[in-house]
Amino acid sequence: MLSYASLASLATLLLPAVSAYGTGFTGQKVVSGYFPSYQQSPADVPYNLYTHLDYFVFTTTSSPTSISQAGISDSVITDFVTRAHAAGITTSYVVGGWTGSQYFSTHVSTATSRATFARTLVSVMQQYNFDGIDIDWEYPGQQGEGNNVVSPNDSANFLLFLQTLRSVAGVNARLSISINVAGMVGADGNTLTDLSGFAAVLDYVTTMSYDITGTWSGFTGSNSPLSAACAPPSNPLSIATGISYLQGAGFAANHILVGMPAYSYSYYVQGPLTQRTCPDGTKSSLYQYATVGSTCGTYIGNGPQFLYRDIYNSGYFTSQSGYRRVLDQSSQTWILWNPTTLSFIPTDSPGTYYYKARQFFQRRLAGTNMFDTSGDTSDGRLVRAIRQGLKIDPTTNVPTLRKREIVREHLERRRRSAIPTI
Ligand SMILES: *[C@@H]1O[C@H](CO)[C@@H](O)[C@H](O)[C@H]1NC(C)=O
Repeated sequence: MLSYASLASLATLLLPAVSAYGTGFTGQKVVSGYFPSYQQSPADVPYNLYTHLDYFVFTTTSSPTSISQAGISDSVITDFVTRAHAAGITTSYVVGGWTGSQYFSTHVSTATSRATFARTLVSVMQQYNFDGIDIDWEYPGQQGEGNNVVSPNDSANFLLFLQTLRSVAGVNARLSISINVAGMVGADGNTLTDLSGFAAVLDYVTTMSYDITGTWSGFTGSNSPLSAACAPPSNPLSIATGISYLQGAGFAANHILVGMPAYSYSYYVQGPLTQRTCPDGTKSSLYQYATVGSTCGTYIGNGPQFLYRDIYNSGYFTSQSGYRRVLDQSSQTWILWNPTTLSFIPTDSPGTYYYKARQFFQRRLAGTNMFDTSGDTSDGRLVRAIRQGLKIDPTTNVPTLRKREIVREHLERRRRSAIPTI
């Protein structure tokens, strides 16, 4: 039988894990987005459509005593935080990103530099009145942009750093990280299967379920497929695999945010766009290779990157634009294809976002994190569809999307084949 003293010490042992979540973890649905300070004005963000925003981005420097504002003035940062708080939402700042992760490995490598770097990050949080810190290290133990310091000890040191950061920042700071959709690697280069230590100190984790297929891939496909059931076997990643990875590694569903892109890569594809039957039984013409005579079209080159707002505002979803559209079932991605210009744009829409968010609701996930706020239309068509999918609008006064539009997309989807679930 346990003595009172041993029960008390057991309670002390348990306490840090239990109290790791402060007010940063709300337990409510999260509709988050990244604010790209380099291409959007704080005045143009529809704050009331989000529950949280991540200011993007501060970058690492060669010293753990500083991070860089990457050329953005104090007044922009302050304006953004003030507006977010006036709208009643929380905001974190992101440190890292694709071009800003160069020195994480160095700063987390010793106990001394971990403590210094943690104090630096917390002082920046306090200086601008942010509610939290989001670490976007691309990637621990793996090269990203090309000139990052990388060590096999990165992920182990990263965990030690996050524990230090939690103790310096306190329980009420909202601490989050984003993780490559393929997972985080350990010292042996293999994907880590146990991230429970990370889960114990973080409020939220975002699976970066975008850039899964792009203009570097050598074939066409979805930027952010719901399922990869129809994708080439060399490209098995998807929103579904990203979520399953995090849950399998020890993150509770209600701490997981799904990364959603508000931008698309485009390609040039020579028709005719016929459909093939996928291993999951759905039909698809999404995946094209640069081989003449491939079954459903031929990928002949890369086009420009599009923001969703530009695709929508240019009318590419309407037949008058010259684009035809077809919904790819297993990825839940629209294909817009213009037979004259051969422009081929796999893209999301309010309907696919609604459908994806409804599945996140059913899996009891925390919510979504959209990259980024500038890619949506100024009236927030994508983010409003997410809110509806997560069923959070009945309790708010946010105007909902016209039902008719969602229903029309659903009918179009039903006509084609059964709706896949993840
Ligand atoms: C990794 O950590 C171990 C144990 O602390 C240490 O001996 C080793 O030198 C480190 N490796 C690198 C590349 O820093």
